[in-house]
Amino acid sequence: MNMSEKKPLLRVENVRAYYASKKGLVRAVDDVSFEINEGECIGLLGESGCGKSSLLLTITGLFNRVAKFYAGTSNVPGLVKKFEENAEERPGMQGRVFYRDIELTALDEEELTKIRGKEISIIPQGLAHALNPQFSIGMQTGEPLEIHDEDIRLIEMRKRVLEFLNLVSLADAKARFVLDPSNFSGGEAQRILIAMALISAPHLVIADEPTSALDVTIQRQIMNVLRMVRDEFDVSILLISHDAGVIAEMADRVAVMYAGKLMEFGDAVQMFHQPSHPYTMGLMSSFPTIAMMRMKAGGKKPRLRGIRGEPPDLASVPEGCPFHPRCDYAIDICRIEIPEYREVEQGHWIRCHRYGEIKEE
Ligand SMILES: Nc1ncnc2c1ncn2[C@@H]1O[C@H](COP(=O)(O)OP(=O)(O)O)[C@@H](O)[C@H]1O
Ligand code: SF4
Ligand SMILES: [Mg+2]
Repeated sequence: MNMSEKKPLLRVENVRAYYASKKGLVRAVDDVSFEINEGECIGLLGESGCGKSSLLLTITGLFNRVAKFYAGTSNVPGLVKKFEENAEERPGMQGRVFYRDIELTALDEEELTKIRGKEISIIPQGLAHALNPQFSIGMQTGEPLEIHDEDIRLIEMRKRVLEFLNLVSLADAKARFVLDPSNFSGGEAQRILIAMALISAPHLVIADEPTSALDVTIQRQIMNVLRMVRDEFDVSILLISHDAGVIAEMADRVAVMYAGKLMEFGDAVQMFHQPSHPYTMGLMSSFPTIAMMRMKAGGKKPRLRGIRGEPPDLASVPEGCPFHPRCDYAIDICRIEIPEYREVEQGHWIRCHRYGEIKEE
């Protein structure tokens, strides 16, 4: 399908999501906009702590709930009141998210529940707490069906559960689906979570760091399962990872996030072979698999060096371009003025003062 014929399935518009903390506002998502088209896989790439999981929470309508629960604002007298005086700069989520023509950000919790887990499903980050230790994995896998179709017959549910557990190649699914999660390895738990995310036939699957808790061999197997999902199902995928290698394997388009902001967004092949943003260049040069891939495609011999320094604390993001303290190309304006996020070519967005001036060495 031609890219221009594709219809957007999800649209994220100027989303901000701030936590309150004793150090001040944590700007975890800061004016993020992008679209996911039907049938495509978008890779969301950025170092740990840049706001990827918070962005996921804003898409699924869970941000305010989680932020309230964790932020402990009530323990800090006057903190909420202080923020309330400034409408732009306050904790919570702002901006709009659309699923097809439905504005998710305008729905109440009950309406959202009909979409979350059915139309949009999530493979959560962190396996440890994702499965309930008290229930059989078969029952848990079938739960999304039960929530959205109360009349589903037990026998039919069992059949569907087995079908999906087999699909993700869970060994001995038929014999083991009555067992509780303690009987399964990390890689198996991840397969079960993928089956659970697919069973209600969603249109969008969001996978948050689906391989990061697993060892290399198991990572490979899980990537194969996800690729099967992409190829066999009519779904869009938002694949979230700090690992450019994982994103490179699947994404059609890539969004690069830094300090709560999108820095570059565009076609995956272009971004991996000719990244334009200094941060993207740095990410690509940090991963041996990407460097080798580029060399095979006729690029230069990889000179791995990664990115110097550490990502900022999101409660005190540097003035100007948030990447400037780590950027080899920074000039005076970078320290003062935040670059605009602009479309520099059709479908290619970038946030850098020096786009077009700099070439990767
Ligand atoms: N519940 C919370 N309360 C306050 N700060 C949070 C909370 N959750 C995450 N953060 C902060 O928000 C920033 C982004 O975190 P997160 O979205 O988890 O990033 P990522 O998924 O990219 O690692 C981090 O600085 C993190 O410390
Ligand atoms: S705006 Fe300046 S500091 Fe930021 S990435 Fe571009 S060159 Fe580097
Ligand atoms: Mg995360």
